[in-house]
Amino acid sequence: MKKKKILAAGFVICMGIWLFCVCRKEDRLEKDKLYVGVTYYDQSDTFINALIDCLKDEVQNYEEKGYEAAIQLRGASGSQRIQNDQVKELIDAGCNVLCVNLVDRADPSEIIDLARENGIPVIFFNREPVAEDMMQWDKLYYVGATAVQSGTMQGELAVELIKSDAGIDRNHDGKIQYVVLEGEPGHQDAIIRTENAVEALKRNGIEIEKLSYGIANWNRAQAQNQMLQMISQHQNKIELVLANNDDMALGAIDAYEKLNYTESALPVFLGIDGTDVGLNAVRESKMAGTVYNDKEGQAAAIMELSAALATGKGMEKIEFEKERYIYLPYFKVTPSIADYMEKGSRNRYGKVSLYMLQRSVIMTS
Ligand code: GAL
Ligand code: CA
Repeated sequence: MKKKKILAAGFVICMGIWLFCVCRKEDRLEKDKLYVGVTYYDQSDTFINALIDCLKDEVQNYEEKGYEAAIQLRGASGSQRIQNDQVKELIDAGCNVLCVNLVDRADPSEIIDLARENGIPVIFFNREPVAEDMMQWDKLYYVGATAVQSGTMQGELAVELIKSDAGIDRNHDGKIQYVVLEGEPGHQDAIIRTENAVEALKRNGIEIEKLSYGIANWNRAQAQNQMLQMISQHQNKIELVLANNDDMALGAIDAYEKLNYTESALPVFLGIDGTDVGLNAVRESKMAGTVYNDKEGQAAAIMELSAALATGKGMEKIEFEKERYIYLPYFKVTPSIADYMEKGSRNRYGKVSLYMLQRSVIMTS
């Protein structure tokens, strides 16, 4: 009898050990798979390159969290045709979610068709497709930021500066003579930023006079050229330079440096993005301010959504606007904020991310 009991107990223990091993093995087998395919419009864009770095960090994060995670990256060299081919490659390579920074935001149909045929969800980011295209399939999402807000904030930064420093109106005519450096025509962040910056100035009672504008496609060198032309046309009359992004504001500063302008003869420069070079220029007071385009938050949102779509888990925790859009807030950066961000840059994400703070997924290391 006793022998039987010992045998039975032994059997139970063995079964327990065996079950434990099987479960552990199954745990391993069931590791969540996150294979992200990313294609972005151009390899020479400063902000996009920084955003891509954040995406890489995020994927590593998911690996550390126990996912089987990998990212494949393709730069599309400004060609929609190349980008369409890259999407095919990424699908063939086995990606289970696609993140697409469109070259031509009005031409996503081929990508949408490819993704739908293969049942792979798409997260568009930074370059927002038009609403009708987003309706083509219910597995299309967008992560970005609101252009209106960035323009308004840039305008408000200008208002604060103009109200606190009478010297900005250098010819004392009661008006601020300004020029605009614009991003790519047709990009949601170009015209809308300009319009809303100007609107904020007017709303706050600042008299303004537009002297000129130049299209510089987000690019520093092109902005320098445009600015050189505008300076040759208007000489010392320009009091404010509103640039749709930091790189173009920096290009404008380059133009003045090239012409050896003294500091007292310089206009006020304002950018948008808060790229590393942009923040440095704000810290050094070369640029009066910028508006932070929260790349860390955008990357966190893209990857959280990617993981949910790839694994079918956690979708209910994500907050959408208009059902399939996530917009991250911008914030204003003055020299003191830029200083603060530099000091905070020792944490893993570099800069403060409102998105991560809100969702309390901020990482410390
Ligand atoms: C904007 C950004 C620009 C440029 C552009 C590319 O949001 O401010 O610097 O990167 O996206 O689509
Ligand atoms: Ca003036």
